[in-house]
Parts: sequence; C-alpha cells; structure tokens
Amino acid sequence: MRILSGIQPTGAPHLGNYFAMMRPVIELQEKGEAYIFIADYHTVTVTPDPKDFKSNSINLALDFLACGLDPEKAVFFRQSDIIQIPELAWILSCFTPMGLLERCHSYKDKVANGIVPNCGLFYYPVLMAADILMYKSNIVPVGRDQKQHVEVTRDIAQRFNNKYGDVFVLPEPQIKENVATVVGTDGRKMSKSYGNTIEIFNSNLKKTRKSFMKIVTDSKTPEEPKDPDNCSIFALYKLFASEKQIDNMAERYRAGGLMYGMAKQELFDIFCEYFAPMRKKREELVSDMGYVESVLRKGAEKASEVACQTMSDIRKKVGFWT
Ligand code: ADP
Ligand code: TRP
Repeated sequence: MRILSGIQPTGAPHLGNYFAMMRPVIELQEKGEAYIFIADYHTVTVTPDPKDFKSNSINLALDFLACGLDPEKAVFFRQSDIIQIPELAWILSCFTPMGLLERCHSYKDKVANGIVPNCGLFYYPVLMAADILMYKSNIVPVGRDQKQHVEVTRDIAQRFNNKYGDVFVLPEPQIKENVATVVGTDGRKMSKSYGNTIEIFNSNLKKTRKSFMKIVTDSKTPEEPKDPDNCSIFALYKLFASEKQIDNMAERYRAGGLMYGMAKQELFDIFCEYFAPMRKKREELVSDMGYVESVLRKGAEKASEVACQTMSDIRKKVGFWT
C-alpha cells in the first residue's frame, strides 16, 4: 500500500494541519510506503516572497521531522525536486475538462473572496493529480477541504485509463471524521487565511497562550451550565484528551461553575504537554540543518526513481516518439 500526502509551505502549521494531515500520514508510515512532500510548486500560485517561501519550506521540513516523520520509513521530499511533476501535470491537463476544474470549491471560494485567479490557481488540482498519480498512491490522507481534489484526481485517472488501459491506480482520500474540520479561534474552520490559527510550534509560548485565550465562546456566566458540544474550547480539547478526561470536562461543563477561562487554560496545558517532546526534538534538529537537507535529498532521489519509471511508461502509452 502506498500512502501519499503533501502540504504547502505557506506558513507555520496549525492544529488543523497537524491533526487532519500531518499526524495521519506520519502514523501511516508504519503501515505502508508513505510518500510525504512539501508542495512548493503549488505555493507559486500565490507568488510568494522568495525569502518567506524558502524559510517556510525549511521550517515545514523541521516540523515534519519533529512530529515523528521517520526518513527510514517514509520518503520525504520537496515537490519541486521532482521535475517530472509539471510534465505529468501537462499531460493530465489534456484529459481534464474545463468544467471539472470550474466546479472545484476551493477555486470558487477563492474567486468569491476577491482573489483574481491566475491560470496556476485554476490548474492547481491537475498539479495535485500529478503528485498523487505519479507514485501510484492508494491512500491520500487530507482534511475535508481537499477531498474534492482527490475525487478530481480519480476522474482524470479514469479518463486516462479509458484511453490507454489501466495505467493509473485510483486513489482513495482518507479523511478522519473527528478531525476533518478543526475549528479555529473564531469558530470558523481553522485556516491561515482567516488568521484564526493556533500554531503547533510557535517559539513564543506566551503568544500561543494568547491564541488560546482568544477562542470565542458564548457569554454564559461561570455559574451557568454549558453545552460542551457547542463550544470551540471543548472541540479542541477533544483532540488531545483521553476519553476519561473528555467525559470529566463534559460533566464540568454541564454542571455549571466552570469558567471558560479555566477551560482555556486546561486546553493550553494539555496542548503544551502533548507537543513538548516534539518541540524538544525540533530544537535539536535546528542545530543540524545538514541532516535535514540530506533527508530531503535522499527522499528526492527515491521519489525521482519512481517518477522516471512512471513517466517512461506514460510517454510510451501516449506515443511520444522517444
Ligand atoms: P490553510 O487553510 O491553513 O492554508 P492548507 O490549505 O495548507 O491549510 O491545508 C493543508 C492540509 O491541512 C490539507 O490537507 C487540509 O485539508 C488540512 N487542513 C487545513 N486546515 C484544516 C482544518 N481546519 N481542519 C482540518 N484539516 C485542515
Ligand atoms: N493541495 C494540498 C493543500 O493545499 C497540498 C497538496 C499538493 C497535496 N499535492 C497534494 C495533498 C497531493 C495531497 C496529495 O493542502
């Protein structure tokens, strides 16, 4: 079984990224061949500042390794090191009806929010299809907002297979229901673009604590009984806590007498405890960037081998005179 997922280097990863994508894909490195990559070609769609782009990529590599990605088990690489990706994306684009891309929610949402789309933004799901199909991936762990892109990938793969035979494996998205949409501090989906995130590794814990204290709640007094199932603090607490701790917190909500400020502090404490070993590992890794670079180089070599083989097959199937 091959598992693949990627994430863009657009900023510091937050709890939504971690629970929906980073942790699941890292866990799957124990169950099959995991391909995990930094989706930097995708980030060019927002024409990033070169300095930020580079430091975000480096930081993301550190974050993954700190969170437990094991380079002996998983293939970890930069998307832009695999030069066959844009080639495959081009070929796939010729099997992609315009309407399929026009229906993509992520694209439509961005346009609705006033972003003037470049062709890259429109083409983004095709590039993603190339990532997935290149390595014949079976399982793609992602958050709910990426599900449609995996479905688009299946559609493109099927169209290609209809013409040339069973070349591509049809991938399955893997979405963990309890973390499919992690809530942000303002009650909306946690997202870098909403400024409502809680970063997993901000070096300033005081700042992180402030993010927790910002979580929006209703205006019930401490004495009033509260509904845990309608509270962002509780929703985030559930990500970290054991069943026993969850039941206990829910009871205290319902009984009344619990201040939201206290619940926020408990959430912050359990967050700190959870990430403490990873934070320590990250600090160690920062002082050995040569190691991080070598992991990505080796990962790129392995991923390139597969990509070369796939492209050689595809070029033959399509009938290029090579
Ligand atoms: P952002 O919206 O913060 O820019 P990305 O689009 O870079 O996040 O998402 C990277 C990965 O994390 C994707 O698999 C996406 O589905 C997942 N993800 C992002 N935000 C959330 C969230 N709030 N809940 C669950 N998954 C999320
Ligand atoms: N589009 C994904 C995101 O923004 C990143 C990504 C690129 C990806 N290629 C992928 C995720 C392939 C899974 C599989 O989060």
